[in-house]
Amino acid sequence: MRTVHSLKELRTILRGYRRKGKTIGLVPTMGNLHDGHVSLVRKAAEMADVVVTSIFVNPMQFGAGEDLDKYPRTLAEDQDKLTSAGCTLVFAPSADEVYPEGLAKQTQIVVPDVSDGHCGASRPGHFEGVATVVTMLFNMVQPDFAVFGEKDFQQLAVIRKMVRDLMMPVDVVGAPTVREDDGLAKSSRNGYLTPDDRKIAPVVYQTLQATAGKIADGRTDFQALESEAEQSLGEAGLRVDYFNIVNSQTLKPATPDDQEITLLVAAFLGTTRLIDNLSVTR
Ligand code: PAJ
Repeated sequence: MRTVHSLKELRTILRGYRRKGKTIGLVPTMGNLHDGHVSLVRKAAEMADVVVTSIFVNPMQFGAGEDLDKYPRTLAEDQDKLTSAGCTLVFAPSADEVYPEGLAKQTQIVVPDVSDGHCGASRPGHFEGVATVVTMLFNMVQPDFAVFGEKDFQQLAVIRKMVRDLMMPVDVVGAPTVREDDGLAKSSRNGYLTPDDRKIAPVVYQTLQATAGKIADGRTDFQALESEAEQSLGEAGLRVDYFNIVNSQTLKPATPDDQEITLLVAAFLGTTRLIDNLSVTR
């Protein structure tokens, strides 16, 4: 496995693979890799001849006061995990390589509607930053397909819409959320949790499951269900950002007619913001 930091080198290597007719899969990440990321790389390796993993902590998707500066950067450990997962090439550019003119002069991609609620509402500009960097990564790597985790449900929806709307020649592949034994979704941000908060964190998934159970039992009073979930999270010591029950396709509030429903949650433990989701078919 090779690691390159410059776009020029990346393009030279990929040109060689493409000339030989190799298929290319891309896994975009911000590094500090865990089993969730590794599952995406393994999936890509099953599907493509060449797997490119990008590691770039994208400043454009972080808001003021968010964790850009303290976001963990662990390239050496990441390289070890990627080698055993079947990655061919790591692309780890600097911010200057990606944004040579700086963020203020950067052309941006806006994906309307699906970016609006949930994390988009709590983190203004976040999905513009994600859509822009993913577009750039697609143009830099020109993959046949790219793998994204369902852990970031709204992000996946934003990327699927962007690819559809802009006719991007990339297949978007979703992969299931990898969890700790106690149900907590694996996340680079779990490392910020104090030992006490780490004990509370599984309540996020437990609340998703409890709410999904009530929907499976036939309840359709979704606003009441949201309030009950928010109350459980609050009682456990989490500060709820949102708990929304939505149509899985549109991400708009679910109606009793919807067959595919997704529960979306974001909640803080201390200053750490955890997100998770669970889909239910009725
Ligand atoms: P990052 O948070 O590093 O996540 C990279 C990819 O791993 C995303 O597709 C995310 O959904 C997936 N992922 C994270 N935790 C997961 C888990 N527990 N199980 C399965 N997949 C998981 O998401 C980003 O980076 C960035 O926004 C990015 C798309 C790279 C653009 O900068």
